[in-house]
Amino acid sequence: MNLILLGPPGAGKGTQAKRLQDRYGVVQISTGDMLRAEVAAGSDIGREARAVMEAGQLVSDDILIRMLGARITRPDCARGFILDGFPRTVPQAEALDRLLADTALRLDAVIELAVDDSALVERISGRYTCAKCGAGYHDSFQKPQAEGVCDGCGSQVFTRRADDNRETVVARLEAYHRQTAPILPHYAAQAKLQAVDGMADIDEVTRQLTAILDRVAT
Ligand code: AP5
Ligand code: MG
Ligand code: ZN
Repeated sequence: MNLILLGPPGAGKGTQAKRLQDRYGVVQISTGDMLRAEVAAGSDIGREARAVMEAGQLVSDDILIRMLGARITRPDCARGFILDGFPRTVPQAEALDRLLADTALRLDAVIELAVDDSALVERISGRYTCAKCGAGYHDSFQKPQAEGVCDGCGSQVFTRRADDNRETVVARLEAYHRQTAPILPHYAAQAKLQAVDGMADIDEVTRQLTAILDRVAT
């Protein structure tokens, strides 16, 4: 099963992708996580991407299209993938169409997590992540069972993203509306686009997604 999860920053793409990969045996491909790994490694791509990401702008299409092309052809994608954060521009969506045609892969669904802008700043400013296993948490909406201890791996070390501050969130939202929202009609024209109510709580969003995907997966 090959799926795209679309939605603004903080919509819940990463949270839901992590749940869906376990249920359907597919891999989450987060271009944001891949770029953050490049930044942490100090690679050429990382050096180019760092300032752009911290300003809340989009990294160049060329870099992303090359990164994604190399990633979805790796063997762990054989059972399927969930794209989280790609495509983010019309040229990226068009490049993905070509890449899928060349590799005889097809998209089973494109699902938009629809969330009001007003909810996003709070979601993003409360977000933190386990430094060891990458599990995601939120100060109010998704706390670990024992305070300060990761449910998944027991680690007590957490990180917050450099771009998760109020000013950058505003820039990221602007980039979403200006550059990413125009890809919604691209997928509507292919009759692939569906939406779920991303304002619902995390479990309810998962229920809505699995209701769609259980149909696709069978
Ligand atoms: P990226 O890492 O993709 O960030 P983003 O799109 O801004 O999305 P987020 O990761 O912030 O949000 P999310 O939807 O995953 O939400 P989450 O599940 O964590 O990209 C970062 C940067 O990299 C970009 O700005 C750009 O510079 C660059 N980049 C990446 N891909 C690119 C591309 N293709 N082209 C060009 N540049 C690219 O949830 C957020 C919080 O809310 C969590 O704490 C969670 O616990 C909580 N939460 C989740 N769901 C709910 C709910 N239903 N109710 C209440 N709380 C919830
Ligand atoms: Mg994310
Ligand atoms: Zn952990």
